[in-house]
Amino acid sequence: MFDFKPDADCPKAETYRQLQQAAAALTEGEPDPVANMANVAALLGDFLPDLNWAGFYRVVDGELVLGPFVGRPACIRIPFGKGVCGTAAADGETRLVEDVHAFPGHIACDSETNSELVVPVKRNGTVIAVIDLDSPSLARFDNEDREGIEGLAEIISGRI
Ligand code: SME
Repeated sequence: MFDFKPDADCPKAETYRQLQQAAAALTEGEPDPVANMANVAALLGDFLPDLNWAGFYRVVDGELVLGPFVGRPACIRIPFGKGVCGTAAADGETRLVEDVHAFPGHIACDSETNSELVVPVKRNGTVIAVIDLDSPSLARFDNEDREGIEGLAEIISGRI
């Protein structure tokens, strides 16, 4: 039984510190990437408010393929360069999108989504996956979220 829960009403930076610590503890010594992605997706859903989807797309044979997540069923395959996820995977840069309806080529897996944060996970400089967070609120994500998820991506890059 694991009981990693965010402290109530703590500042965002502290929430991310606790989230990163929990992710490091949960994945330590576990070699199975699916198990680790599944637990990290569950942590994202537990720690971060106002999300309707949180999880992974993995790079498989040159395209993104759906990985473990929490939320509604989603698009399974996304070509590099397509949508928010494929754009972030193609150039290895985070995408923080305040209004997905204004993002050219956004892939609407869930019509409730209004804003999105996509952070590439890199190993030895190569993108191996992306972490995708979706919110029903416009402009849900800011630079603190970006930094928090980029830190998480570094922590888990050797474990997924
Ligand atoms: N909206 C994403 C697709 C993935 S889902 O949101 C889970 C995109 O445009 O890449």
